Amino acid sequence: MAQRFNEVAAQAHKDPQGFWQEAAKDVIWMDEPKTILDDTNPPFYHWFPDGTINGCYNAVDRHVVEGRGDQNAIIYDSPITDSKRTITYRELQDEVARCAGMIAAHGVGYGDRVILYMPMVPSAVIGMLACARIGAIHSVVFGGFASAELAKRIDDAKPKLILTASCGIEPSRIVSYKPLLDEAIEMAAHKPDAVILEQRPQAIAEMIAGRDFDWADEIGKAEPADCVPVRSGDPAYILYTSGTTGMPKGVVRPTGAHIVALKWSMKNIYDCTAGDVYWAASDVGWVVGHSYITYAPLFEGCTTVIYEGKPVGTPDAGAFWRVIAEHKVRAMFTAPTAIRAVKKEDPDGALIADYDLSHFKYQFLAGERCDPDTLAWCEEKLGVPTIDHWWQTETGWSIAANCMGIEPLPVKSGSPTLPIPTCDVQVLDEGGKQVANGEIGSIVVKLPLPPGSLSGLWQNDARFIEAYMADFPGYYKTGDAGYLDEDGYVYVMSRTDDIINVAGHRLSTGGMEEVLAAHKDVAECAVLGVDDALKGQVPMGFVVLKSGVSRAGDEIIKELVADVREKIGPVAAFKLAVIVARLPKTRSGKILRGTIQKIANGQEFAMPATIDDPVILDEIADALSHIGYPLSQ
Ligand code: COA
Ligand code: AMP
Repeated sequence: MAQRFNEVAAQAHKDPQGFWQEAAKDVIWMDEPKTILDDTNPPFYHWFPDGTINGCYNAVDRHVVEGRGDQNAIIYDSPITDSKRTITYRELQDEVARCAGMIAAHGVGYGDRVILYMPMVPSAVIGMLACARIGAIHSVVFGGFASAELAKRIDDAKPKLILTASCGIEPSRIVSYKPLLDEAIEMAAHKPDAVILEQRPQAIAEMIAGRDFDWADEIGKAEPADCVPVRSGDPAYILYTSGTTGMPKGVVRPTGAHIVALKWSMKNIYDCTAGDVYWAASDVGWVVGHSYITYAPLFEGCTTVIYEGKPVGTPDAGAFWRVIAEHKVRAMFTAPTAIRAVKKEDPDGALIADYDLSHFKYQFLAGERCDPDTLAWCEEKLGVPTIDHWWQTETGWSIAANCMGIEPLPVKSGSPTLPIPTCDVQVLDEGGKQVANGEIGSIVVKLPLPPGSLSGLWQNDARFIEAYMADFPGYYKTGDAGYLDEDGYVYVMSRTDDIINVAGHRLSTGGMEEVLAAHKDVAECAVLGVDDALKGQVPMGFVVLKSGVSRAGDEIIKELVADVREKIGPVAAFKLAVIVARLPKTRSGKILRGTIQKIANGQEFAMPATIDDPVILDEIADALSHIGYPLSQ
């Protein structure tokens, strides 16, 4: 068992540079790299530093040249608008080249930033590829974020241009993007030169003359632009992700290494090759969408599915199986929360029988810890291997995965299996010493990280070092806590910081606390994640009011919920808050978040030795009982 995988991993461990040098032969370089790894300036490592390459050429043009022009590159399936469309590689090449020309005509060139604030439509993927074509750096902002979050990203990335659409469509409502975008530009200190907007019939946006341009008109006028060479280390994109404060971290993805790594992952992790249909049911606003809706399947010459719908309600809990059957999907990737949503509506998986899933070979899950029930349900009802794999926005692809294309390893429920080859995962205690197998500690990766991981944070080396490299010199701190078992299987149990995972979406409780603390009646607050059967976790606020505030608590809570929705966005799913007289703290004044969380989740806890007043814990439990927590009791 695991013989082939062990051989590959052992060889890769012995000669990581040789391993990735070999993988790099599978992509098209404009100038082949002579150096495989520049390790002269740790903790900044650069893979393939002297190569030049183009991401769009590797995703699109090469496949036309190699004879796949008539194969579908994209299948757009939108149950929410009741529409479908296919785009061949040849058509994609034409559309992307014209989109690149359109962007260039607005003064965008090599190294310039372009923000995309787009729903799940083909133009989002086309816009990303068009930026790559001309060496511009894209930064996609998820549509569920509010204006203030978008404004932060505009100020940090300083885009010349913003690409958007008039609306996104949620099952319960049309989300008009333009007013949100206008407000964000108003709030931001940096002003883009132009906005290009795709009008969707569901909501026609009003345009600001001189700044806003209609996508269809501009594309009509555009001259196709060709692929330009960029240096391997040039950023392909910036993707903002939650950190411990309200200011997100701008993860920078180096171009050449991400092409090599993602192409390798398609064959070796997902067991998909050119011509296969691959579907990541995520959103282009998240890293899964970047890597596995847009880039990796196209680098490999697969057909990628852009799905504008939900796991349930569009129209029912059979939606995923319908898409898999209709488009002959070989491997599908989603978050456990999406499966939980399906399982809740169709516990016996009765709808699965309505579809021919004979082409379906693998169900991949990531984005949050995969609970054993979800894994078992998929395995039993779908009858295909269900593969949990662990990764982060920062790494851009798996840290640990069961590599289906190398050799399927035994699945252990609760574990994303083994680290991928060349990724040296270790578990350390607070002092930086390796702990014994089975003991929980900080999960770290020995530097250098494999290719495709972040090369830094956008124009912020100090934060990059502080956030990831400073605590354990020589290692990348993942921010996750967990352990390795006796076979080296990785178990990822929780975060070591203030990040929570809500329906597979990564959110900062620190950011939510900043919003609550800004309310005029709030003296202090804590936000933490409490267990939720569907979303894994949901945020809950604990709020101490300023003395003398006599307004009804319910009214204040409603305002706080509205504030988080308004300032962070609906995706934060902040709906629960309780008003308490005091927050439990250590004698040095640190809020005991972990203890509050255990009380809210009905878990046992040891009385913290440093607590200043244990009675406060009873007060917290009492306040929680009024809103029905802990749920299990
Ligand atoms: N634009 C605007 N609003 C959005 C949005 C978008 N792109 N995406 C989500 N929202 C809104 C939702 O409408 C919802 O608003 P509401 O409070 O008015 O109901 C809110 O943000 C929370 O959304 P979500 O967390 O998605 O919850 P949900 O109850 O609507 O759906 C699931 C629950 C499980 C079905 C859904 O979260 C899901 O499909 N998750 C899969 C996650 C995923 O793909 N993760 C990526 C990693 S693989
Ligand atoms: P994101 O950057 O949004 O992809 O979120 C990354 C975080 O999600 C990780 O640091 C983990 O905390 C969590 N995560 C992702 N995949 C898994 C997994 N398979 N098992 C456990 N946690 C996961």
